[in-house]
Amino acid sequence: MCGIFGIVYPEEKKNLGRKLYRAAKRLVYRGYDSAGFVGIHEDGSVDLRKDAGKLEEVDNRLKLREITGKRGIVQLRWATFGVPNRNNAQPHIDCKKRLVTAHNGNVVNTPELIVELSSRGHNFKGENDGEVVCHTVEDFLNRSGNLDIAIREAYRVLKGDYAYVAADSKGDGMFAVKKGSSLFIGVGKNFICASSDLPSILQFTRKYVPLFDGEYVYFDHKKYEIRSLETGEKIERQPREYSGDIALAEKGEYPHFMIKEIKEQPLTTKTLISYITESGEALEFAQQLKKSRRIFIIGSGSSFHASLMGSYFLGRIASKFTIPVIAGEFSERFAELFEARDTYILVSQSGETKDTINVLDLLDKKGYENIYSVVNVPGSTIYMRTRNRFPIMSELEVSVAATKTFLNQVVGFAGLSLLVSQDRKGLEKLKRLPEFIKDTMEKTEPIVQQLAKEFSNWNSIYILGYGVNYSAALEGALKIKEVSYIHGEAYYSTEFKHGPLALIDEGQPVIFISSNEHCEKIISAINEVRVRKGKIISISNENPSLRLNSDIFIPIPEDGFFTTPILSVVVLQLLAYYLAVERGFNPDTPRNLSKTITVD
Ligand code: F6R
Repeated sequence: MCGIFGIVYPEEKKNLGRKLYRAAKRLVYRGYDSAGFVGIHEDGSVDLRKDAGKLEEVDNRLKLREITGKRGIVQLRWATFGVPNRNNAQPHIDCKKRLVTAHNGNVVNTPELIVELSSRGHNFKGENDGEVVCHTVEDFLNRSGNLDIAIREAYRVLKGDYAYVAADSKGDGMFAVKKGSSLFIGVGKNFICASSDLPSILQFTRKYVPLFDGEYVYFDHKKYEIRSLETGEKIERQPREYSGDIALAEKGEYPHFMIKEIKEQPLTTKTLISYITESGEALEFAQQLKKSRRIFIIGSGSSFHASLMGSYFLGRIASKFTIPVIAGEFSERFAELFEARDTYILVSQSGETKDTINVLDLLDKKGYENIYSVVNVPGSTIYMRTRNRFPIMSELEVSVAATKTFLNQVVGFAGLSLLVSQDRKGLEKLKRLPEFIKDTMEKTEPIVQQLAKEFSNWNSIYILGYGVNYSAALEGALKIKEVSYIHGEAYYSTEFKHGPLALIDEGQPVIFISSNEHCEKIISAINEVRVRKGKIISISNENPSLRLNSDIFIPIPEDGFFTTPILSVVVLQLLAYYLAVERGFNPDTPRNLSKTITVD
């Protein structure tokens, strides 16, 4: 949800624009409605170039890469306040053309502040909340003449969750502020930068410092100073060294990150499975789950689908009473019904999702202790705020649609369930999962490519599953919607006859996910669709009667309570990818979406 990056060098840089562009390339998955760069020169002059459009388009028009200067700021926008146009694009500059800011997140009292600041003579060009940040800080700067003080005053006025960078063109260095949205500092040999996420920093330096909510930092090219926004008190924090694989931020031989990340799954699942079976940490988590009377698993989007699948695993494999909850409805639905003795698992690949952070706020307020995070990004807000962490170890995921992070979330739940139930045979099977995933991809990819050609002009595709396979259907339907813009809809197979069956017409594709255990129930649902001339596609381990009842049969190499849904998701990820490609869309940056959703 918008990406920001700011950097300070000791002297003028002819290649500043190119450096900013490299940083921006790593941020595009956060926003691609508008792009803007600013270069600030030693003499205080400002070169601001911005417009609506994707980074490449704006660069073609405005030559962003040719910007020079000593300090630079980038902003990539995912529109919330104000339509994508030049005026709403960021960075923004104040009335006196002196202060430059770029923000991400949401300033929720934007309309009120526009009225108030306009009445005091501020000249607003658009409706964007980033512009409100700029004029609010300017307003306080006008009064105190000190940007440090102005930033702390503005903190009391700007409501919502956001982060921003601010530079006084007549001054030196840069400020960066964190309130609810992620922010990191990167410490290089002859520069310091701040960014809304790590990947954009890591290509310049592996030394980074995470900031926490309520903190701001002033930095120049060689030193940084973190302070509390509330009290102004100094906070000492040494840089950490990032040890992960930064080559993962490149597409390599693949045309898109999405397919690269799908293909990485045998490896990423293997890493996680070794952690589950070999580290004492996973066992400790499993022991906590075993003790717990009730377990809540909470997430949004794909992370909710993983929570749902996880609740089936914990329920059926480990006999634990587990309640999956959409993060955004947790407080509405459970109000006073949750207790300190329950266990809470917060699932989020980014660790920045606002809906999920709201649940964490609620649990923290109550002082509960049994809170676990299942997060992919170390240093993210949820990761930093939870003491009990189950890292999903998928490494960097760039494509907006979650694939390898989803898979490791559910593999994590399968592993934990098997540890709780001390199911040795199950754990042995789990160790073979990476091999099954590889096999699934090799065997099903050609069938799926063919299917994508055949279905690319359909307006909708239905995916049906029974029991745990319903959660796989939900995830598959979401992937199809997100990247191919075809309406994918998941249904619980026994529910289909209670309404949606009315939509089945000749040739309508309906995909059935079946475990051998549920085969009869699925065949009965298949018959209901077949007599209405729907096209039947089945995903299942080899099963003669299912094959006989299907127009297209997609065989997965293994059947089982956790293997069938997990392997079926892999097939559906491939289908979503090839549908997007067939229809001419870039699956890595689906329209209207962003990889980190830091607003309510
Ligand atoms: C779908 C997808 C989203 C996210 C959701 C939650 O491909 O990526 O549905 O799952 O926005 O994000 P996280 O997992 O970062 O909390």
